[in-house]
Amino acid sequence: MDTEQYAVTAEFYDYVVPYQARQDVAFFVEAAQASGGPVLEVGCGTGRVLIPTARAGISIYGIDLSPHMLAVCEQRLEQEPAEVRQRVQLDLADMRAFDLGQTFKLITIPFRPFQHLIEVEDQIACLRCIRRHLADDGRFILDLFNPSLPIMAREATGEEQGDEPEFTMPDGRRVLRRNRIVARDVFRQYHDVELIYTVTHPDGRTERLVHTFPMRYLFRYEAEHLLARCGFAVEALYAEYDKSPYGSTYPGELIFVARKG
Ligand SMILES: C[S@@+](CC[C@H](N)C(=O)[O-])C[C@H]1O[C@@H](n2cnc3c(N)ncnc32)[C@H](O)[C@@H]1O
Repeated sequence: MDTEQYAVTAEFYDYVVPYQARQDVAFFVEAAQASGGPVLEVGCGTGRVLIPTARAGISIYGIDLSPHMLAVCEQRLEQEPAEVRQRVQLDLADMRAFDLGQTFKLITIPFRPFQHLIEVEDQIACLRCIRRHLADDGRFILDLFNPSLPIMAREATGEEQGDEPEFTMPDGRRVLRRNRIVARDVFRQYHDVELIYTVTHPDGRTERLVHTFPMRYLFRYEAEHLLARCGFAVEALYAEYDKSPYGSTYPGELIFVARKG
């Protein structure tokens, strides 16, 4: 995973309308409060979940491989009161190989960072690292999308798509984001995806910025087997962040709550 690619996305991330509309923050904050902390967020990005967690009184450690995403998170934290800032620790680290020298009551990986891992060895390395950092009575929340077979069958490769509203940056740039699947590897279960940002500057000049990355999809039982193989027992599987059970909606999400098995 070349997280330098997140250089393009980082400054826009918190303004993207569908990201702002996600219903997951309350779910993760509630889980953090129930755990009592400390929490580890793997792939914490710009702090979309991490900062509300710290505001809710819970100590949280965030790791991410993108210095660009972490830089945005740090800038955002500077706007927070000292008591919130002191609950947060950030580190540039790869989810496949990290050693933070402590354990956590809750480890989360919100909004699909795990799907940036393409190879099974990388997935296993990540899950083993997470398990080593989990307290014996701790919980791990793995957050994936549930691959929709009808959507995957319908989506055309190479075609730009998306109907997100345009958003405006604080400096007046207007940004329209679209996406496309550039290539599919049906054997290794991943898509090469492009997020395409068309930026219109206040002087009318436009530029096109592209964030390219591979996105792996996992089906329910594959993820369950992977968790079991890495020493986790699944306690709950939700389809939505309101805790609707898996099977109540399609495709929904794949939100696993696991403990040490
Ligand atoms: C879609 S963002 C999710 C960010 C945040 N968790 C949220 O909910 O908004 C995915 C994040 O995973 C990070 N990431 C990708 N591969 C990684 C790796 N191998 N180790 C750590 N972080 C990684 C990216 O840099 C990015 O910040």
